Amino acid sequence: MILRYRLEANDRRPAITIVKHYETLPPLECCHGQLNQVFMNLLTNAIDAIDLTGYDPQDCDPSEQPPRIEIRTRAIDQSAIEISISDNGLGIPTELQPRLFDPFFTTKPIGQGTDLGLAISHEIIVQQHQGAIAIDSELGRGTTFRITLPRYPTGYPSYRV
Ligand SMILES: Nc1ncnc2c1ncn2[C@@H]1O[C@H](COP(=O)(O)OP(=O)(O)OP(=O)(O)O)[C@@H](O)[C@H]1O
Ligand SMILES: [Mg+2]
Repeated sequence: MILRYRLEANDRRPAITIVKHYETLPPLECCHGQLNQVFMNLLTNAIDAIDLTGYDPQDCDPSEQPPRIEIRTRAIDQSAIEISISDNGLGIPTELQPRLFDPFFTTKPIGQGTDLGLAISHEIIVQQHQGAIAIDSELGRGTTFRITLPRYPTGYPSYRV
């Protein structure tokens, strides 16, 4: 809802389609406010990556993919789940991928954001939830961020009965 206006068509590109593949997930222990922050960061980055792709409205090349973000959820097994967010934006060069989670690493113009989106997301997923966050990206084709989360992080206050 918060990002809806950024998905709309504008003079540079068509509207972004969001495709949801939501498998029913088992309950898990988490701080949902923090996870929402991660999803916002990843979705904002996906939209930015699509906006930076550069669509040519005159170019009717049928191989040009309409802008699209896919969100998938699945249970990996009894103890862990996976959430992935994929975009068909500009992609990330291989040599930059190891630096993405560094605080203040950005390729965007200075002063637009805090440049902490992925550093904070990594902290929330890895330190706060004992999960993992991985990148799969190909320049010019798009990027997938894949989050895995244990259902019962150790050391977490447990609500199991
Ligand atoms: N989906 C994506 N596609 C392409 N590049 C990405 C994607 N997600 C992240 N990046 C790259 O990773 C960098 C760091 O992302 P991060 O969210 O930490 O900061 P930012 O987006 O630059 O700034 P802020 O989040 O404060 O607006 C981005 O500048 C961009 O180069
Ligand atoms: Mg960001």
